[in-house]
Amino acid sequence: MRTKLLAAAVAVAALGGASLEALAQTKPDVMVAQRQAVMKLQGKYLGPIGAMMKGAAPYNADVVALNATFLENLARMPWDGFDPSTKGEKSKAKPEVFTDTAKFKAAADTLEAETAKLGAAARAKNEAGVRAAFGGVAKACGSCHDGFREK
Ligand code: HEC
Repeated sequence: MRTKLLAAAVAVAALGGASLEALAQTKPDVMVAQRQAVMKLQGKYLGPIGAMMKGAAPYNADVVALNATFLENLARMPWDGFDPSTKGEKSKAKPEVFTDTAKFKAAADTLEAETAKLGAAARAKNEAGVRAAFGGVAKACGSCHDGFREK
């Protein structure tokens, strides 16, 4: 048990080190492009679910399950791209992203939590659950944009 735990800790430490190194080698302008690409993909996979929620498209549980699962994974990806080294790059990120970091992280965590709920309901083919969770996801996108994205 002990050795197992130790091995896991070493593996996690190694992983952490590796990802930090990878980040350090990524140029700031590339990081901006990558985080914007993840944001765009979030829009791509959220949009069709939104259309179904509004009744603009027929409800399709398979599409919802796939899109919500993509969204749940995408929701974990943008954040390391908001690295302090990107501060001077041209982007729509407000300066507060780098000054009000606790609030920005809280907004990111909220999105991760809300997309996890949506993903679970969608994979369970629970339409009522999807409808209940969707608003929380949309709100998580919008409230962060209100505070942290230039219009
Ligand atoms: C924690 C804050 C935060 C959350 C949550 C968030 N965004 Fe963003 N989003 C931003 C910021 C900041 C930018 C500007 C990034 C830049 O220009 O580098 C942005 C940019 C975007 C863009 C424009 C990308 C481009 O450059 O073309 C889209 C589209 C987008 N977000 C969609 C979404 C969707 C959909 C969600 C929810 C599923 C979401 N965002 C959740 C902060 C957030």
